Amino acid sequence: MEKTFIMIKPDGIERRLMGEIIGRIEKKGFRITKAELKNPTRELVEDHYVEHKEKPFFEELVEYISGKTVMAMEVEGDNVIEVMRFMIGHRDPKLAIPGTIRGDFANKLTENIIHGSDSPTSAERELKLWFNH
Ligand code: PPS
Repeated sequence: MEKTFIMIKPDGIERRLMGEIIGRIEKKGFRITKAELKNPTRELVEDHYVEHKEKPFFEELVEYISGKTVMAMEVEGDNVIEVMRFMIGHRDPKLAIPGTIRGDFANKLTENIIHGSDSPTSAERELKLWFNH
């Protein structure tokens, strides 16, 4: 069965959205097979977002997550990678459709509540990075 890496970002934790998000994942029928509150080092966050290293928003993104509390999860289910990306919604809050997590709760581009792996290759890499660190 397919697995993905999901992270509730620091603003999701601070805004007490953890229960809401976990509820949506469970009600969809997916299984949360690992869940851990973590305070990732800068090194781990830089590694996680390595493909965006040259982007202008990289520094702001890494700074926003490093050393803060996040919830790292492994979630399992049929087509979970693609379905979770739909449930998360567009990264630009202007374009995130109501009914998606970002459509319902996000109003900023960097502080956008949640991350989900975008492909099987990313899911495998991210799960290894966050849970075997
Ligand atoms: S891009 O622009 O196509 O490379 O964007 P994408 O592949 O969707 O992922 C970008 C990740 O960086 C986060 N982020 C931003 N993206 C674009 N612009 C700004 N200003 C920005 N700030 C942060 C975005 O949410 C993606 O992270 P995750 O955690 O995967 O959602």
